[in-house]
Amino acid sequence: ADEDLAAGFDATIAAGDRIEPRDWMPEGYRKTLVRQIAQHAHSEIIGMQPEGNWITRAPSLRRKAILLAKVQDEAGHGLYLYSACETLGVSRRDLMEQLISGAQKYSSIFNYPTLSYADVGTIGWLVDGAAICNQVPLCRTSYGPYGRAMIRICKEESFHQRQGYELLATMMRGTDEQRAMVQESVDRFWKPALMMFGPPDADSPNTQQSMDWGIKRHTNDELRARFIEMSAPQAAALGVTLPGNDLDWDEFWRIVKGGGPCNAQRIAHRKKAHDDGAWVREAATAYARSPR
Ligand code: ACO
Repeated sequence: ADEDLAAGFDATIAAGDRIEPRDWMPEGYRKTLVRQIAQHAHSEIIGMQPEGNWITRAPSLRRKAILLAKVQDEAGHGLYLYSACETLGVSRRDLMEQLISGAQKYSSIFNYPTLSYADVGTIGWLVDGAAICNQVPLCRTSYGPYGRAMIRICKEESFHQRQGYELLATMMRGTDEQRAMVQESVDRFWKPALMMFGPPDADSPNTQQSMDWGIKRHTNDELRARFIEMSAPQAAALGVTLPGNDLDWDEFWRIVKGGGPCNAQRIAHRKKAHDDGAWVREAATAYARSPR
């Protein structure tokens, strides 16, 4: 009977159909999804910090409203993704503990500091742009709850990308000082944004199996190349120069392993927010248990 279940799973994947939470799945498939979806959810939540840093210092009410909406969207994305992950039999509490202990990862990009307001624009344009490039194919991922979450997330990421581009375009029409601020920000974020796609295919232990299972639809290098190609005309239209595409993979692995400029700060901030919320969880649990 186990063979029948496995054959059914293989047939569903081969037909490009979706696996749903109650369907049989190999343990490795479930584990890979938990790993990727958890990492993705954590990235959304940790990703609120670099931009949240600028909310109180936004240069106008309009910019503040846009930035607040954007950072709140990231929280929402984290919540859809944690829910998708919970359908695989893990609890939100475990996921949070594994983020804080470092057992699960989040995207390398959020370990760089945001040093000027231009960084808000650059993150929207390049970081959210790279996220869209990576995530649009994930709308067709083989696991139903993940793919459905991705559809909504991609729509919101498109707004984020546009607001970033518009912010930079506005600054590029401003003073020489503003133009220099934009270029300096792009110089810092371009290569880290290219590293978001993960290690080169030859050094990516998970890609082949994830492609065979229809979890990933393209390799890391394919998506990185697509993003570089998409970005060139946008940079030309903005009037900024993109630095080269030679990446320092030692820097990448150092950051992935916790040694980047902001890793410790990001986790400490997340842990404090989690600890500060303990009373809310306790109150909700007590209420849920109380006779009504
Ligand atoms: N930052 C941190 N860790 C990374 C990164 C990165 N940019 N790229 C790869 N890694 C980790 C992988 O998680 C893996 O470690 P693990 O086995 O402990 O999980 C290891 O490096 C080797 O990488 P791959 O074999 O290439 O791993 P994978 O097949 O999972 O591909 C990728 C990595 C492309 C990031 C994939 O997981 C993915 O598409 N995830 C969903 C999208 C996502 O997480 N986006 C977050 C970015 S930003 C945002 O959404 C706002």
